[in-house]
Formats: sequence, C-alpha cells, structure tokens
Amino acid sequence: MDEKARILQLRDELHQHNYRYYVENNPVISDQEFDFMMHELQDLEAKHPEMFDPNSPSQRVGSDLNNEFETFVHTRPMLSLGNTYNREEVADFWKRVSEGLMGAPFQICCELKFDGLSISLHYEDGRLVRAVTRGDGVQGDDVTANVRTIRSIPLQLPKGGDWPRQFEIRGEVLMPWSSFDRLNAEREQAGEPLFANPRNAASGTLKSKNSSTVAQRGLDAYLYYLLGEGIPGDGHYQNLEAAARWGFQVSKNMRLVSTLEEVFEYIDYWDQERRNLPVATDGVVLKVNSLAQQKSLGMTAKSPRWAIAYKFQAEQAETTLRQVVFQVGRTGAVTPVANMDPVQLAGTQVRRATLHNADVMASLDLHVGDKVLVEKGGEIIPKIVGKASPSEPESLAIPFVEYCPVCGSKLVRYEGEAAHYCPNDTGCPPLILGRIEHFISRKAMNINSLGPETVDDYYRRGLIHDAADLYDLNEEQLTDPQASDNKGVRKILASIEESKQIPFERVLFAIGIRFVGEIAAKTLARYYGSMDKVMEASMESLTQINGIGEVIAGSVIQYFANPVNRAFVERLRNAGLQIEIGEQQRQAQSDKLEGQSVVISGVFQHHSRDEYKALIEQHGGKNVGSISNKTSFILAGENMGPAKLEKAQKLGIRIMNEDEFLSLIKE
Ligand code: IVH
Repeated sequence: MDEKARILQLRDELHQHNYRYYVENNPVISDQEFDFMMHELQDLEAKHPEMFDPNSPSQRVGSDLNNEFETFVHTRPMLSLGNTYNREEVADFWKRVSEGLMGAPFQICCELKFDGLSISLHYEDGRLVRAVTRGDGVQGDDVTANVRTIRSIPLQLPKGGDWPRQFEIRGEVLMPWSSFDRLNAEREQAGEPLFANPRNAASGTLKSKNSSTVAQRGLDAYLYYLLGEGIPGDGHYQNLEAAARWGFQVSKNMRLVSTLEEVFEYIDYWDQERRNLPVATDGVVLKVNSLAQQKSLGMTAKSPRWAIAYKFQAEQAETTLRQVVFQVGRTGAVTPVANMDPVQLAGTQVRRATLHNADVMASLDLHVGDKVLVEKGGEIIPKIVGKASPSEPESLAIPFVEYCPVCGSKLVRYEGEAAHYCPNDTGCPPLILGRIEHFISRKAMNINSLGPETVDDYYRRGLIHDAADLYDLNEEQLTDPQASDNKGVRKILASIEESKQIPFERVLFAIGIRFVGEIAAKTLARYYGSMDKVMEASMESLTQINGIGEVIAGSVIQYFANPVNRAFVERLRNAGLQIEIGEQQRQAQSDKLEGQSVVISGVFQHHSRDEYKALIEQHGGKNVGSISNKTSFILAGENMGPAKLEKAQKLGIRIMNEDEFLSLIKE
C-alpha cells in the first residue's frame, strides 16, 4: 500500500477506535496500540503535507499556533432557557404547555442541566466544519481548532450513517471533576490562580489561544439539541438517540415522561444522584418532545416556550467553626476567613470559607465551636450562610480585627465601602507588592517580563522595596550563578529600560493613586501636561475638570500630601521616566476623529494595536470592540477576519487601511 492510502486507512481506523473508546466505552485495542497507530499517522502526515486534513485524528493533539478567534453569526440564534427554582413554577410550566397545546397529549424529555458552556457544532458531509461558542446568542467565537481536541466530539461521522448532509448539533462543553481537580492541583503547585469551578475552567480553556493547552486539559462534551433540515424525526429524544448512533456523546440519563409526577421523580432522583456524576450539573432541563408541538408553542423574545430549566438548590454542608483569620489582600482590603473542620461539599473537601467583611461577620454572630452551614456559590471559596444551631452559652465570640494583622496599622473603612482597609500602602508588605504589580501591569508600565512571583522573590530578597527600586536593579544582582544562561534577567532589565518611554498618562496611572484609573489618569495628564502641575493642583482646579469628581480630586491631593509618595515620584523622575506630556504628543493631539467610533481589526505593519488605539484617542475618537451600525469606520490591517469583513460590508461601513488612516490624522 502506498503511503497516501495508508494515511487514509489509519485515519479511518483511528476514528473508529475513538468511537469505540469514547462513545461505546468499549475499546478493542490497547492505549499503546492506539498511540502506535497515531504516531505512524503523524509521521506519514509530516512526510505528506499535501494530505493535511483539519479533521484528521492527529489534530486532536492541537497546535501551538495562536488562534485569533473570528466571530460567527449563528445560523439560528442560541437562546437561553427560562429558570425555575421550585415545584410550583414547574407545575406552572406544565400547565402553560398543556394549555398552549389545547389539551393535546404530550411528552416531556427530562435531561440533566450540564454546567459548562454551550457550543454549536456544524457538520457537513459527516465532517465537523465549525464549532462556535454561544457568545451573545446572536454571534459567538469560532473555536473550531480548540474543539477539535475534545475527544468525545467526532471529527468524522461513521461512513454510511443516516446523518443529514448538513446539520447543527448543540451541547455543553464541560471539564469533568477529575480533570478540574488535576488542573487546579497543577496550578496551585505553579503558584497560578485557581479556577473557581469546572465551568470557569472549561470556558477559560476553550477560549485559550493555544489548542495544545486545550488538548491537555481533558475537556468533555455532551450534546443535547439537534437542529437543521432533514433531521431524522419528530421526537427530540429519538433524534438524540440517532445522534448517539452517529458517534455523539449524548447523556444516558434522559427520560421521556408523560406526567408531572414523573417530572418530580426525575428531579428528586437527580438532586441527590448528581453528586455521583463525573461532571458538574446545576439542574434539570424539561423539553416538550415533539418538534411539531415545540413549533406550535413557539418562543418568547428570550427563550422557547417549550422548554424550561429547573435549578437545584446550592449544596450545603454542616461543620464546626474553629477560628477566623484575617487576610490582607494586595489592595489592603482585609477579608475574614473561617477555618473549619473539613467537610465534603459539591465534589470537594472544604475547610475554609470566606466571611466577606465585618458586616457579614456581625450578622452571623459567630462563636468558636459554632455548628455552621457552608454553601458553595460561584466563587472558589465557599461561604458560611448561617449557624446550624445557636452558639454554646459559654463560647467565645469572634470580633472583627481593628488593627492590620500584618503591619499593625489601625484599619480604616471608607465611606460607602463594605471592606476595612489597611491604610499603610507604603509600609505593609502585601500592599507594597500590590502596588508594584499594578505599576508593572500591561496597561500601566507594561514591564511584561516581570511576573508576580519574580516581584515577590525580589522583594523577599530585599532587592526592591517599591516600584522605583526596579530602575536601580542591575544584572549582577539578579544573575543566578547556578543558572546556565541568564537570558531571562537580561529580558527583564531590557523591559524595565523600555518602560522609560511609556507616556506620562500611563506613568500617572501606574503610580497607583487611589481611584485614579486609566481614564482619569489620561484626563489629568492631558489637562495639566506634567507631574509637577498635577502635584500642585488644588481641589478647586481639579474638580473643575470634566470627569474628575471630588473623590478622585481628594485622593490626588492626599496622595501628594504624603512625603513618601513625593519622594517616590522624584526617584521615578531621576530614573528618566516620562513625567510630562511629550512634545510630539502635545502637537499630535487634534479633534479630527471627534465623535467617531473606530473598530481595529487585523495585523498591522507600522504600529501596534495599542498604539493605534492611543492615536485614535489622541485625535478625539473612540476605539470600540465590535462592529455595529454606529461604527464610523474600521481600521483594518492584514488578515481581518472574514466574519468581521462580511458584517462591515453588510452595514456599508468604510474599511480603512493603515496608510489611509495615518494620512487622515496627519492632514
Ligand atoms: S437546551 C433552546 N439542554 O443551559 C434550548 N441546555 O439556560 C437550548 N444547558 O445555554 C438549550 N444542559 O448552555 C439545553 N440538557 C440541556 C442543557 C442545557 C445545560 C445549558 C445551555 C443553555 C443553558 C440554558
């Protein structure tokens, strides 16, 4: 057999083995044999690039290419479902359906509500051609390359099946508990932020720019909605049975029922049993089974009248409170955290719960040894929602702290805020680190080769005490004598050096004056033109400026009243940072784009996207993310996405290239 024919044969066989493994749960070859065939295929494909096929089983491993997501307008909008939280509302739904169908008999398909993110898959001639996220329901991101790595999604349906030539199938992409636990354990080890729940993890993963990351994360998918002309029959349930035969993973836990009692039985059963499922579920979905009846019931503006979701109550567990510790975050906010006896809750073991702030703590009136009820919301840390029984008479009440547990400063509470803060932002370590992290962040000084761990490390080694110290670092201090090469160090120093060119408005944002965000910093920088003028500005002068209120103004004054801050700014000046508006920028400003909304798309030759964004703003325009009929024009580089192009053409919006744009603002 020649190599090309062998490639086709291997692809065919691997598709079949995938099906046996992931759908039928009945593999006929060992993992090793599978890998062996896969390697043979990969080798042959490498030798025959002309045989490339995006749906080859080899594509499951993903690639390191960056995916720029294109938007895709859904062929049919992806609606959401009405939610109910109690039996009465379920009974109301039943009644509405029954009345809507004029008393005709009907069946309801009961399904689990999977807690992931919805996906729309398009197949043509049995091949996966496109996978799109829900997005805003009208249009979503084309994530085909990432979805190809999910092994339970067939790339190629078995030959000769009774699938229609063209159809769409929708379902949920999920991260099973096992993958989720493994991923978070790895992230904890690496000091990376944890995912709050499998849904966030699945969604973060599917939006990853790198499909090999997706391939490693072990996503899964359940399909629950078949659409298109020529789908097999009138029954939703029967259609999904057909989809299962074609190789889609369809839940085995769907039930077709004809009475409301059976619906409640299904709900009650799964409210308990869902704890034993490998994936997260947050309710039950009820759908009228007959497509004809679905059609006659129709839709409201937001959701179909023929389906509804019943949401399970959040899971609670009871345990004993041992102690409350107070954590100081990088903004200075102090959060009370309860330490409890470990207890099993919604798939994980829980021993800590957030108590949010002093008010929440006061309302719970906690004592050491209390029996408390813990619940898991959307956040990573569960919360205490109440006491399971009154506190023991002699038990010790737990008050909120008055002094910072890290540096001992008296805590403050700003008007209108729930949190207490440590005010010692130039002397309390978590706050100092928070300020340095803000300083180097992308929208501030963009010292992107420095990460939070490195900052921590330098701080602990006494190399830096504030952000100005970054400019005194030298290669000798940072060089690790054990390391074979110190490329990383040189990169860090180079990006610190480069940051000296960052324009004044961003320096003003970077120094971290409370309440002075990106926009306020820009406004102040343009109004006053230099750090010295901002430093001298009075309350009256500041509050005159459009967009600067009393809170911001007061905060600016307070910041510069502190000699430590003034000394800090002085050191930045001496280090050579831009502390006034550049001559170029002063001249470059105009109102040529006044009132215009500009979308930036594609890859550019002369300037980066951020630079173009700044140019648009300097000339009075606004940079917006997506195309609408309000868009004035599109600044398009190379490889502008076809979906965007189509939309722009449909709306008759002008597409301008780089050179045209640059000469427009120069005119
Ligand atoms: S059917 C028109 N079935 O819940 C019907 N949705 O609020 C569309 N979901 O966006 C959805 N499990 O992401 C359906 N068995 C299931 C589901 C399910 C989870 C999600 C889906 C949808 C949301 C509805």
